[in-house]
Amino acid sequence: MRFADRIGVVRGDITALDVDAIVNAANSGLRGGGGVDGAIHRAAGPELLEACRAIGGCPTGEVRVTPGFRLKAKHVIHAVGPVWHSGHGGEPELLASAYRQALDAADKLAARSVAFPAISTGVYGYPLDAATAIAVATVCAFLREHAVPERVIFCCFSEPAEAAYRRTLSNLGD
Ligand code: AR6
Repeated sequence: MRFADRIGVVRGDITALDVDAIVNAANSGLRGGGGVDGAIHRAAGPELLEACRAIGGCPTGEVRVTPGFRLKAKHVIHAVGPVWHSGHGGEPELLASAYRQALDAADKLAARSVAFPAISTGVYGYPLDAATAIAVATVCAFLREHAVPERVIFCCFSEPAEAAYRRTLSNLGD
């Protein structure tokens, strides 16, 4: 598999990962929240919310960068994925854009390793298999064109998410 050495899948809590940057599944107000966003804010400390407040907000499909504060990761890339409605409101394009912009931000930060949660697949209700296909395709396309980040980790919180990523990656072939 062509990208095997640059893409990894791990099961666990993204806040514990020793990577240069982690991606947050944020909301457009950058106000913190539940899910992975809540976990990242708890682990990074209150300075993270202050930094987010100073930025103000982030449109859906875009990203904003803050320091990682108390996290091992030096940077947090806050990516706002779409809320799933019917799939006809531009959700696939917005989700791909969130991944692409996060990778672009990692490249500009010279982050050698970056970890992604399964953006939009929790509270925002994006169907897991469809979201996984977009995440994997967008990351592969980016890595084909860029040397940085050197390594991308899909951090899965649940067994079904891990299975979806492993299945999608193994179907890539070469
Ligand atoms: N590490 C890695 N993945 C996690 C963790 C964790 N610690 N905790 C949850 N996940 P969600 P969304 C997984 O709901 O759908 C927030 O309130 C989770 O199992 O966190 O993009 C924000 O403020 C799921 O697979 O994000 C927004 O308002 C994935 O992370 C809204 O939720 C994403 O689930 C964003 O919704």
